[in-house]
Amino acid sequence: MKEILFVCLGNICRSPAAEAVMNTLIAKQKLTDAIHCDSAGTYGGHAGEPADSRMIRHASKRDITITGRSRQIHPADLETYDLIVGMDSSNISNIKALDRFGAYHHKIVKMTDFCTVFTASEVPDPYYGGSEGFEKVLDILEDGCANLLEFLLDDE
Ligand code: 4NP
Repeated sequence: MKEILFVCLGNICRSPAAEAVMNTLIAKQKLTDAIHCDSAGTYGGHAGEPADSRMIRHASKRDITITGRSRQIHPADLETYDLIVGMDSSNISNIKALDRFGAYHHKIVKMTDFCTVFTASEVPDPYYGGSEGFEKVLDILEDGCANLLEFLLDDE
């Protein structure tokens, strides 16, 4: 079983959407016994809350169901998970800061490193913006997650 953790700032917009996009692909390919996903935020201010209702609504228009509640990433997650996927460069720095001795740096990657259609270098934070921002997040995540899944299967 491979364990993947998606990480953003608040764990209410981008990373729960990434988890849901990935879980949708995993279910379609009948890989639920092979890959398990979770998500977390580097900031704990929304801990315990469900995902942002705007993110839930935009995802559901694509038949992607976002479930779960926000939690803050914990240093032990670096040991538990096989791959930790940050959404932007600030997330990556904040995750790496939890790994004081650099023992797990090799597990920390950025979502957009897996994109082949979109050239963005980060999944942009949609929180303070409009609908287009949420759609853009989903477009980038669908691109990146499809290739991330291929990467995980090649790595078997
Ligand atoms: P996320 O979006 O990191 O994609 O979950 C945000 C959620 C909350 C805040 C910022 C970004 N906030 O400042 O509370």
